[in-house]
Amino acid sequence: MKFFVDTGDIDAIKALAATGMLDGVTTNPSLIKKSGKDFIPLIEEICDVVSGPVSAEVAATDYDTMIKEANKLAGIARNVAVKVPLTQDGLRVCREMADQGTMVNVTLCFSAGQAILAAKAGAAFISPFVGRLDDLSADGMNLIAEICEIYGNYPNWETEILVASVRSPMHITESARLGADVVTCPPEVIQQLYKHPLTQSGLEAFVKDWAATGQSIV
Ligand code: E4P
Repeated sequence: MKFFVDTGDIDAIKALAATGMLDGVTTNPSLIKKSGKDFIPLIEEICDVVSGPVSAEVAATDYDTMIKEANKLAGIARNVAVKVPLTQDGLRVCREMADQGTMVNVTLCFSAGQAILAAKAGAAFISPFVGRLDDLSADGMNLIAEICEIYGNYPNWETEILVASVRSPMHITESARLGADVVTCPPEVIQQLYKHPLTQSGLEAFVKDWAATGQSIV
């Protein structure tokens, strides 16, 4: 399973890239606003740091403007995945961009039917939002299970399931259990994945006992 980070924070992206475990980046208009940076230069900077897919989202909702924006974003770097909303116009843009060899991430997916449409439109990624479904007392991971099962019936579909709106390590482990292709997580959730109280207490004991031996390795 690939790990993407869901942020517009370039310092967090650089720190995660240094771990060697970062496979890509997703952004959205809200994350760009939070970053306080100018969109196009920020995407350029991210694409310099990360060689995997970097999702950059169109801002318009009508086909004519969206296709212009999509072409501009695709021109930033070869690893840009243009992100479009799951609407009729968005999927039309998806088909055209996919046909010209650009990766497209179809976002704001909340149903299995929408995920089928994105695969038919040639999306490189479909982004079901699990946390936002959980917020409404629906089961976000159930949607991932449903999409995994459906896509599994059609091995010729090339769309990857990118689990988005991830809020906890449980979303990550459950995504891996179900066989999702990618999870995109806020940096804080990736940090939480490292942690376990027994790791912490065990390490403290080892450090203390090693010091008591008076030895050094290097
Ligand atoms: C995915 O591409 C989205 O940017 C993101 O995961 C949305 O997450 P949120 O529901 O926490 O805003």
